[in-house]
Amino acid sequence: MSELLKRKRILSGIQPTGTPTLGNYLGALRNWALLQNSYDCLYMVADLHALTVRQVPADLRRNSRALTALLLAVGIDPKEHILFVQSHVPAHCELSWILACNTQFGELSRMTQFKDKSAKHPDNVNGGLFTYPVLMASDILIYNADLVPVGQDQTQHLELARDIAGRFNNIYGETFVLPEGYVPAAGAKVMSLSEPTKKMSKSDPNVNSFILMTDDKDTIVRKFKRAVTDSDGMVHFDTANKPGVSNLMTIYAAFTGKTMPEIEAEFAGKGYGDFKMAVAETTVDAICPVQEELQRIQADKAYVDGVLKDGAERAARLANRTVSKVHRKVGLLQLEK
Ligand code: AMP
Ligand code: TRP
Repeated sequence: MSELLKRKRILSGIQPTGTPTLGNYLGALRNWALLQNSYDCLYMVADLHALTVRQVPADLRRNSRALTALLLAVGIDPKEHILFVQSHVPAHCELSWILACNTQFGELSRMTQFKDKSAKHPDNVNGGLFTYPVLMASDILIYNADLVPVGQDQTQHLELARDIAGRFNNIYGETFVLPEGYVPAAGAKVMSLSEPTKKMSKSDPNVNSFILMTDDKDTIVRKFKRAVTDSDGMVHFDTANKPGVSNLMTIYAAFTGKTMPEIEAEFAGKGYGDFKMAVAETTVDAICPVQEELQRIQADKAYVDGVLKDGAERAARLANRTVSKVHRKVGLLQLEK
């Protein structure tokens, strides 16, 4: 990261829970890679956030390394930018406590994800699930991030981070940058292949509903062939009446850069079979090089761990500066070094 350029700073995080889908790739990871050209980026594997839902320890460990390798494979540059694991920078948790003391119970009670997740896991409505948005605010504010690329489901948490930052600045004087959300370009919401009115999600029990970043060519083709469409046989973009076809068009547009009218013209008079094969082929062409790179990187565990060690050190340097400033502002006694 060049101190001289003073580019705007980005922070984002993704939880290491399972293998990312095509939705994660088009909605998040691919943008993360593109944003590196214009911003100073910090990208984080949010392992502490994953603990809000019960994890198998060995899986969590493996997924954290695997997700790091995938981020490298999609083109995250760990030299120009910072790639790290959340738990490797303890300052996030330190700041989180102080921010929690400046966040209201009522604010956290209003978070829709808390309500959804507590309904989904009624046997494990833990304190971490409730205070999760405070840790997320800490992740963002600790680096004074200007911009935070997040999916729709995280915008409420980002709003809360802004509210916490604003309130803290009012009470203790200018401390935090108020972060802005970064909404990815149109077409960033990929829907389920089997129920196209639902978002594509790796936690869907139907494996045919999603494409995983690790699916091989045959699996990708098979899943697209089975994708739910409709009976009128026209490749036409209409999310309300033709959600399945529109979703496939969104994926095709995202990979080819073509507009919806161009895609409609390309497949006019052709059946869904040809269209689905074309979508499958562009997906395979885009994902296969990432998979080859992933295999190469995963074979070199020492490299991946080296990246994370360096990332944690550089992130911690920035984060510790903020924590020290915050300690001073709120009146925690600091001894001279
Ligand atoms: P999640 O897997 O839900 O934790 O999401 C990780 C990131 O991927 C977030 O930025 C989400 O907004 C994004 N994401 C997840 N699923 C999709 C999808 N089906 N379409 C687009 N983006 C998605
Ligand atoms: N909560 C985010 C998710 O579930 C992941 C995340 C954690 C994050 N910390 C963040 C995203 C900070 C953006 C900024 O997808």
